[in-house]
Amino acid sequence: MNILLVGSGGREHALAWKIARSPLLTRLVCAPGNPGMAALAETRPVAAADVAGQLALALEIGADLVVVGPEAALEAGLADALESHGVPCFGASAKAARIETSKAFMKAFATRHSLPTAAYGVFEDAAQARAFLAASTPPYVIKADGLAAGKGVVIADDLVEAEAAVDACLGGRFGAAGARVIIEEFMAGEEVSLFALSDGETAVLFGAAQDHKRAFDGDTGPNTGGMGAYAPAPALTAALEATALDRLIDPAVRGLAAEETPYRGVLYAGLMLTAEGPRLVEFNARFGDPECQVLMMRLQSDVVPYLLAAARGGLAALPPPVWRDEAAICVVLAAEGYPDAPQTGSVITLPQGDPGEGVAIFHAGTTRRADGALIAAGGRVINVCALGADLAEARRRAYAAVDGIDWPGGFHRRDIGWRALASERAR
Ligand code: AMP
Ligand code: GLY
Repeated sequence: MNILLVGSGGREHALAWKIARSPLLTRLVCAPGNPGMAALAETRPVAAADVAGQLALALEIGADLVVVGPEAALEAGLADALESHGVPCFGASAKAARIETSKAFMKAFATRHSLPTAAYGVFEDAAQARAFLAASTPPYVIKADGLAAGKGVVIADDLVEAEAAVDACLGGRFGAAGARVIIEEFMAGEEVSLFALSDGETAVLFGAAQDHKRAFDGDTGPNTGGMGAYAPAPALTAALEATALDRLIDPAVRGLAAEETPYRGVLYAGLMLTAEGPRLVEFNARFGDPECQVLMMRLQSDVVPYLLAAARGGLAALPPPVWRDEAAICVVLAAEGYPDAPQTGSVITLPQGDPGEGVAIFHAGTTRRADGALIAAGGRVINVCALGADLAEARRRAYAAVDGIDWPGGFHRRDIGWRALASERAR
């Protein structure tokens, strides 16, 4: 099979690494890819959301499957363009992807289909939003409607801060993505990322993980896209997972099909495990990053049949995916200044040769300078992943590999997995 993989982050490098192991693969092209992906596949300089460019590339290489990593490409209509040319695409249509790309759509959809989630209001008018806040209780959750690169959510403890967040959003901080603001009930609990594949009709669970959203140790500092992840997710028991499938995932996939926007690709449910059971924080139309990295480390089955079945139909006929017994962890190395103002351009020296069995180093935001040096080109730059008999061993191996990287321009957390390790020790 010829496969085109769209994207350039750590999530896509992990997908490329796993796809490259498939006996079904003839040719893998990554666009735009990154220097890490270039070591295991062809790369082409086509931007992820350049729909015409990606379509032309898919047709040129005779792609049997296109795997879309980032949501921006879905929002731009890449899956729709591929479908109209008969190219199977792992990734949702622009309409189905609204489940992620418009929070107002997502909340209304959740209400229509009785999915457990936070109560909310949607506003275009600041005075109405303020009146809603005044009648709510803290902490206040304020979100921009559209895609805001993970920065569109503010959780405010007092009314002044909440009103400032509403004003900033409606005042244009996020451009068109903030033309509507959503104010939500706060849900308390532990957060888990649950993944399911869907071919438009059937949903199949495809792993769970937990990530660390705050920039610094002890879960302090600003919110980020994720500074590390681990799997399995001990907080999500089999019973809670079954409840989430039954009350959230299955009704969402059926609902999208009933509304004539069948969902093909990966459905990522951000869950809050509350005292009343799992409740939906958000849906995403993509794999989590860095959650995908730990899923790919643990996935024993060939990933390609699952991606293809989600794109073309037939998921129900596949056996459930098989996961390794080992735990996996991913430590994100970020550029100084991330998330607000990451300093790019600093030189990164990775260890020579194979990182060793059960360890993988994925590139998330790197590029090559004219002289060939590897440099930082984004906020989250390198992902160090390891497997271990348990999370403690996976963590030791991951940090040993982190310590072999020479990058004075970067920082990382030293405590990835702490919550799960505490519960592992308590057992
Ligand atoms: P989102 O972009 O919607 O995933 O929100 C980013 C983060 O804000 C989530 O991962 C949660 O940690 C937090 N969050 C969002 N909505 C809520 C809510 N209603 N209650 C509590 N925390 C929330
Ligand atoms: N790690 C969270 C996300 O991908 O949205």
